[in-house]
Amino acid sequence: MRVRDVQHPVLPQATADELSRQRAVVSLRKLLNMRVRSQNVRRFAEEGAPAFAERHGRQPQSPEDIEEALFASTDYRLWSAANRASQEMIWVAVGEPIFRDRARMEAAADALATSPNRKGSLTLAPDYDPSPEIAGTDVHLQPGGYARDDHPGDVVAGAFYETGGNVFSFGQGAGKGDSKAGVVFRLLDQDFPDLAPGKILDLGCSAGAASAAYADRFPDAEVHAIDIGAGMLRYAHARAEALGVAVHFHQMDAADLRFADDSFDLVVSHNMLHEIGADKRRAAMREALRVVRPGGVVIFQDVDTRFAPSEVHRVEKNWDTRFNGELFWKIYNDADLQADMIAAGFDPEVVREHHVEAVNNINRWYVISGRKPAGAEA
Ligand SMILES: C[S@@+](CC[C@H](N)C(=O)[O-])C[C@H]1O[C@@H](n2cnc3c(N)ncnc32)[C@H](O)[C@@H]1O
Repeated sequence: MRVRDVQHPVLPQATADELSRQRAVVSLRKLLNMRVRSQNVRRFAEEGAPAFAERHGRQPQSPEDIEEALFASTDYRLWSAANRASQEMIWVAVGEPIFRDRARMEAAADALATSPNRKGSLTLAPDYDPSPEIAGTDVHLQPGGYARDDHPGDVVAGAFYETGGNVFSFGQGAGKGDSKAGVVFRLLDQDFPDLAPGKILDLGCSAGAASAAYADRFPDAEVHAIDIGAGMLRYAHARAEALGVAVHFHQMDAADLRFADDSFDLVVSHNMLHEIGADKRRAAMREALRVVRPGGVVIFQDVDTRFAPSEVHRVEKNWDTRFNGELFWKIYNDADLQADMIAAGFDPEVVREHHVEAVNNINRWYVISGRKPAGAEA
């Protein structure tokens, strides 16, 4: 499978005008995030904190103080407003081609999903009701959110995730191979060279970019992937079929897995932890441990926003919770994930946190890995 620029029939076919608008949004986001945002802590020190001190007669200390001080900086306010606007522009830029091309995409998805040559499968749970907090939120402003499902056959949520992700990630997103899975492949080679996974589970798969990458990397393995959104999963399944890889997709909650105990060699999740609250996170860790076999490995990869060097950095990083529909971003940033893994029952000797260079080198990822103690059947 190509590592970058994966093309398949369920992607919307954008016109030249639409592509140039998407490129413009990528360029604006690069500018705002790589050049302008990096100056926010300096803006706090030079402008925000002195203005706060003048107004209150003391230095900003609490997170609320620090946020007020950041907003006392004109340049910070400008960045914040522009960043929110650029995030909205992502969905306009990818939404136009999606809605124009929707009927063709849905027909293509259906043909792939029902083809006699299909390799994987899709199992939806029509009675499953995603929790209102996730179903009722446009997470990172994605229209309709992760659980969007307008009608039988709808694939819009997945199309938004893949095409929006490309623009969000500066042209390096989910549609272009999967650098996040690549990071886990590297970790498996380094830390678990003895593991030859015969059965793999991907939690919170969205458009299935990582799931397809596992099926490609381990062609003899049986790969399963779950998500809460039917529209996501239809898209992910059709995408995997188009790429010629076998993945079995299921509508399921990571906190309540419908798989037997001890049934996987490897359980992974990519960028799911920051999308769930503390209770679900702990339940998902317990469930991952339950379904992985003794000696099997569990790896949660996510955004590298934890461990801020100062309270100002921490408050600055939490911008997405307040302004970008990322309900659990701050909860994720502040969590003690190592303690959660150990409390879930992972062997404390081998629970490890890593900050790793992304495969594409433009960012870093956070990874926490654990192993089910041998002889610890669920
Ligand atoms: C940021 S996306 C990550 C997608 C994909 N793994 C990737 O890295 O490209 C998070 C996904 O987690 C899913 N999700 C959220 N809560 C979940 C839960 N309780 N169980 C399973 N999936 C969940 C969302 O629907 C969404 O598709």
